[in-house]
Amino acid sequence: MFTRTILPLMVAASLLTGCGSPTEPASSPSLFVVPAHFPVPLRLGVEALCTPERVALGRALFYDEILSRDYTVSCASCHQQDYAFTQHGHRVSHGVDDRLGTRNSQPLQNLAWQPTFLWDGGINDLDLFPPLPISNPVEMDLSMDSALMRLRQSPRYRALFRAAEGDDSISTSRMLKAFSAFMLTMVSASSPYDEAVVGRTQRTPSQTRGHTLFQQHCASCHTPPLFTDHTFRNTGLMPSDVNDLGRASVTLDPRDAYAFKVPSLRNVEVTGPYGHDGRYRTVREAVAHYRDNVATIPGVDPAVSNGILLRDSDIDDIVEFLRTLTDKSFLTKRELGPP
Ligand code: HEC
Ligand code: HEC
Repeated sequence: MFTRTILPLMVAASLLTGCGSPTEPASSPSLFVVPAHFPVPLRLGVEALCTPERVALGRALFYDEILSRDYTVSCASCHQQDYAFTQHGHRVSHGVDDRLGTRNSQPLQNLAWQPTFLWDGGINDLDLFPPLPISNPVEMDLSMDSALMRLRQSPRYRALFRAAEGDDSISTSRMLKAFSAFMLTMVSASSPYDEAVVGRTQRTPSQTRGHTLFQQHCASCHTPPLFTDHTFRNTGLMPSDVNDLGRASVTLDPRDAYAFKVPSLRNVEVTGPYGHDGRYRTVREAVAHYRDNVATIPGVDPAVSNGILLRDSDIDDIVEFLRTLTDKSFLTKRELGPP
């Protein structure tokens, strides 16, 4: 909503004032590029949003503990680049005072193609996202007012805002735009899978068998090239004591109980543990779930409700195929790391 209304206005305003206006930041190339084999992004205007200056501001904010109550937690504490921006080794996330959340942090990648955010899809505009973790008592526990006050007192941030927006006024909307700009540049599209798609490399026999099995049993939900169809499905994970209702807590429709967002499987090798509550330690366990652990609870998706018939060697091949989704350049790209 925010982007659709604000961005056209900004474009109109910059057309009116012309490029030479002293209050407009110098126009520079976008840091957002759509990979040739990807669909058109759902979000409009990302190229215009992702100027190098705005992305630099967003990157500074993303890596800065200044946005947590006790200056100990940044977005990057729970979203670590080496692990495709998940929190490595934690079943559920850890925030200030080591307080625990109830869900496993999600990878941040290819967000321009995502219609909703969170495991239950409770947020549908990336620009509205950062206030949640910042003010959440189990995450960063800082009011947005205090966050803005801290930034306004910082000469570094005044300079970064001036570079990004043309003057050093520091507002929530500018801050949110910068967060989005940085996160939208987290595009993962250069894995061996992608290289095979564009014909630059070949798969091993095991990966080829795994690919075939994947197309047969998994791709209806984990649909390439994003490896998700962006729906919410109940895959028969036995509810835990937390009794997380998933999508039903947003729609209030009991038929959506225990349905969760189909996660992208890009970089899945490094995003463990797995499942919305991190119950599976390894990719192999998460895949074996579909054969061994699909619970008979109401609403399980028919594609998996009877369990998927797989031999041990099939599971090995699928795991081998999933490894081809690991995008080393994404996990190590300097521009996505700490400033
Ligand atoms: C204490 C750990 C923690 C911190 C700090 C944190 N996050 Fe998260 N993040 C999570 C968890 C856990 C989820 C999944 C939550 C859910 O689905 O309910 C998540 C989900 C997200 C998502 C949704 C991804 C998707 O694919 O739906 C975005 C975007 C995000 N975080 C951005 C941020 C930003 C920006 C910050 C800093 C302002 C931040 N996070 C700080 C733990 C954290
Ligand atoms: C009916 C849709 C559907 C089908 C079919 C399906 N999945 Fe999933 N998959 C999901 C959903 C939804 C989740 C998240 C479940 C949760 O945590 O509640 C998931 C989670 C996963 C995870 C954990 C990912 C993470 O980041 O936590 C892996 C790995 C996975 N699936 C692999 C597969 C494989 C391999 C197949 C085929 C054998 C498959 N899936 C078939 C919907 C599906």
